[in-house]
Amino acid sequence: MTRQITILPGDGIGPEVTKEARRLLEDVAQAVGETWVLEEALIGGAAYDQTGHPLPPETVAKCKASDAILLGAVGGPKWDHLPGDVRPEAGLLGIRKQLGVFANLRPIRTWPGLLLASPLKAELLNGVDMVIVRELTGGLYFGEPKQRLNGGDAVVDTLYYTRHEIERVVRQAFDIAKSRRKKLTSVDKANVLESSRMWREIVQSIAPEYPDVTVEHLLVDTAAMQLIQRPNQFDVVVTENMFGDILSDEAAVLTGSIGMLPSASLGADRPGLYEPVHGSAPDIAGTGVANPLASFLSVAMLLRHSLGLEDVAQHVEAAVLHVIESGHRTRDLAGQGGESVGTEQMSALVRSELQRRL
Ligand code: NAI
Ligand code: MG
Repeated sequence: MTRQITILPGDGIGPEVTKEARRLLEDVAQAVGETWVLEEALIGGAAYDQTGHPLPPETVAKCKASDAILLGAVGGPKWDHLPGDVRPEAGLLGIRKQLGVFANLRPIRTWPGLLLASPLKAELLNGVDMVIVRELTGGLYFGEPKQRLNGGDAVVDTLYYTRHEIERVVRQAFDIAKSRRKKLTSVDKANVLESSRMWREIVQSIAPEYPDVTVEHLLVDTAAMQLIQRPNQFDVVVTENMFGDILSDEAAVLTGSIGMLPSASLGADRPGLYEPVHGSAPDIAGTGVANPLASFLSVAMLLRHSLGLEDVAQHVEAAVLHVIESGHRTRDLAGQGGESVGTEQMSALVRSELQRRL
């Protein structure tokens, strides 16, 4: 089978980590005996420098024609003076919008061997393995009106959702729960917000389609506490845009290292967009120490959600786990014991372990 994957390296450490992720994809394609077309395109500051725009039309066209897209990171001090519409971040928001992705997936898991990096006690962290599904296109961040009123003495933001918008992200979350430990936690504020009462009704109306998935509803304030007190009770969490923004950053702290966090943005029958959670890390760019594992774990998500290669995705994750367990650490994981390696060496270790498994 021929697959088309577009790689958007971007800025800072983006090109360094996507270079290694590309090698990983090439290894996987060869192992499964398929032809994968891996093409790069410009985004962010790199695109601005070459074309005057952070999201050139050729990039959008290439992405739309792909099965999946892997992005590095965008931004950096070099472009901070630019006006908002041509800043690197505009490229990122633009591609998400162009692709129509509406569900942002943030897997949060702890790695035995890296528990020291977390501010929480190790015993709380055992077995943490959850996916937060955040609605990405609606809710408080986009609802109209949003404006100052009465000559600046009042203000309004609007939390607006259509039934369709809620249903599609909730279904996505049920599908993911079904393929995992079969527990779905829907987070809302149904004691106060009408939008949350409708959200809850919709979750309840879809639940009978997934009889093997256990559903619970949590108020967002309770969820914020339980993420710290009992993080290993969660499997899949689904919630509206702003709640998801806040809770996913809270949960990310559990793992203790931004260099290990992948993400995906999915739409129905669209190419998925996969990217590490971290930014372009200008402080370490060009020094060969960036951790490529957030990108490798993003590739695992790409294999799982866009290419339907669940078994290969699990092998990638197991290879990462193996290399961490054998004591290899990039500099961001320093203070966690083990031996310090650079970007290329970490990449080579994981890829050779993967070769052994495939
Ligand atoms: P950042 O995530 O780039 O860096 C925060 C800290 O974590 C830095 O000390 C950095 O060296 C370290 N770090 C990040 N990723 C790492 C990795 N893979 N390996 C080792 N260390 C790593 O966040 P920051 O510094 O707030 O932002 C830097 C630039 O990135 C800004 O221009 C920002 O706008 C942009 N950014 C882009 C994002 C994206 O493209 N999705 C997301 C977040 C920030
Ligand atoms: Mg955030």
